[in-house]
Amino acid sequence: MKIGSEEHKERFCREFITSHCRFDPAGLAWPDLDGTALERLRAIPFWQEVLYTERRAGAIVAAYAATINDPLVREAVTLQGFEEARHAELLRLMIKRYGVVAEERAPELPGGNLVRAFADFGYGECLDAFLGFGVFKIARRSGFLPDALFEIFETLIHEETRHIVFFINWMAWQQAARGRGAPWLRGATAVGYYSRAMGRLLATVWRGRRANDGRDFSATQASVFLDGFTFRGLVEECRAEHARRMKGFDPDLLQPHFLPRLADIALAALRMRISPRRTRGWPGKIEGN
Ligand SMILES: [Fe+2]
Ligand SMILES: [Fe+2]
Repeated sequence: MKIGSEEHKERFCREFITSHCRFDPAGLAWPDLDGTALERLRAIPFWQEVLYTERRAGAIVAAYAATINDPLVREAVTLQGFEEARHAELLRLMIKRYGVVAEERAPELPGGNLVRAFADFGYGECLDAFLGFGVFKIARRSGFLPDALFEIFETLIHEETRHIVFFINWMAWQQAARGRGAPWLRGATAVGYYSRAMGRLLATVWRGRRANDGRDFSATQASVFLDGFTFRGLVEECRAEHARRMKGFDPDLLQPHFLPRLADIALAALRMRISPRRTRGWPGKIEGN
């Protein structure tokens, strides 16, 4: 199958559409939480940001979908917009049910080129998902919250995995359509977009730290899963989870590979013990081993 071909488009769109799961967030098996679990859930400082991100995702994807001429691609992107809006609905339900304090803000939509906005959003999702895979695994294994709640979040993470596989293929397909499909050119474009995504993520973390000043989450609630936490351990979990989750997809389709390769390089460097000093200053207990 040639990347960028009509067959490629059919395959990545059909895979995405047929793997869509119908469910109503209100109908999920929401568990009753005891006092400790409620306290932990409420102490997580980023629910407001996550809700905002999902609402913004839904708005960007829906706005871009409305501009697509190709009916199959439009159907797939519209479906993604629906799933993003459902993520926001799921979070809203969780916030209400468990009394989490999170203020809802209307999303600001990027002006200008919607293809670029969708691409920026897509690479941001690839980065968030890669990190989220590892953090989710570590948190779930630690039993920080009841497993029934992780099972609900699993629904959301699985959909994000489908989104990033769809996105990477969409990106390659539309680059090929514009005569920019050479692998080196796609790689160079990805580096640019990932750099911007990392910049946005760092800005969000910085804003979050300032907003949560005085609420020392990491020193109290998160000590449950930060015990024994190392930067290397986190990267290893992200890498392993990424590989495990990608196994369920059509192997002929493209998969995000920039971050896994970057992780491999970082891990190789850490194993050679050439970079312990560079990891100093990373949030959490970083030992650089
Ligand atoms: Fe989402
Ligand atoms: Fe998504």
